[in-house]
Amino acid sequence: MNREPILKVDNVVKRFGGLYALRKVSLELERGIILGLIGPNGSGKTTLFNVITGAYAPDGGTIYFEGEDISGLKPHKIARKGIGRTYQVARPFSSMTVEENVHVSAAFGCAENERSGETREVCYNALKMTNLESKADNPADSLTLSEKRRLEIARALALRSKLLLLDETMAGLTPTEMDMTLEMIRRIKSEVGLSIIVVEHVMRAIMTLSERIVVLSEGEKLAEGSPKEIAQNPLVLEAYLGEEVAE
Ligand SMILES: Nc1ncnc2c1ncn2[C@@H]1O[C@H](COP(=O)(O)OP(=O)(O)O)[C@@H](O)[C@H]1O
Ligand SMILES: [Mg+2]
Repeated sequence: MNREPILKVDNVVKRFGGLYALRKVSLELERGIILGLIGPNGSGKTTLFNVITGAYAPDGGTIYFEGEDISGLKPHKIARKGIGRTYQVARPFSSMTVEENVHVSAAFGCAENERSGETREVCYNALKMTNLESKADNPADSLTLSEKRRLEIARALALRSKLLLLDETMAGLTPTEMDMTLEMIRRIKSEVGLSIIVVEHVMRAIMTLSERIVVLSEGEKLAEGSPKEIAQNPLVLEAYLGEEVAE
């Protein structure tokens, strides 16, 4: 078994003008693990995803994926290496059907599918894993919010991602949809064996899903530990209480 961390973020810095969105953030992700990434609004969670996936080049530090330095590579290169993501605002190709959306990722995003001729099967499995089989022929823009989010995950699965970055996949969902999403994420982890980083505001979801949690605050890593350790950490409680007062 390969014990090298699948992802290593080493002292990563990202600036927007004078604002430091990430100040020397470091973390490691073991293979097959779900890591929760939490922190108040504006603490740098989405920026970290953007830097890992190549949407922004870091201003300092290094990102290793499977031991390889990927810092500053273009997003499509990083996607092809096996990092998939969702966006806070889902953006499918809305005029295409659900199946076509997944097919585009499977056929054009993944050389392995092309070589092996398994594109159809990979698409089918991605739709099944995300409970979208019955919607395969529907136009993507007819989907509910919950289904659109699942479609993004299906596209990442079709790309044969090894690492999945989920950015607030559960925001705005009903309790039933949320339960379905939690179950789906667990299934993806256990059946496909993906490593996953989950950004989520819903504490119940984060605490039950994550094996480890990293807390960001104002672009810095404030704490890291098991869900239990994080729930009892006074610094974390303070950061969240601060946010509630501000709101
Ligand atoms: N493209 C951008 N241009 C300027 N500032 C940005 C940009 N993206 C994020 N920021 C700023 O970086 C900080 C971190 O934002 P973000 O990563 O979106 O936080 P989170 O996802 O934790 O809510 C915020 O102060 C935000 O305003
Ligand atoms: Mg965000």
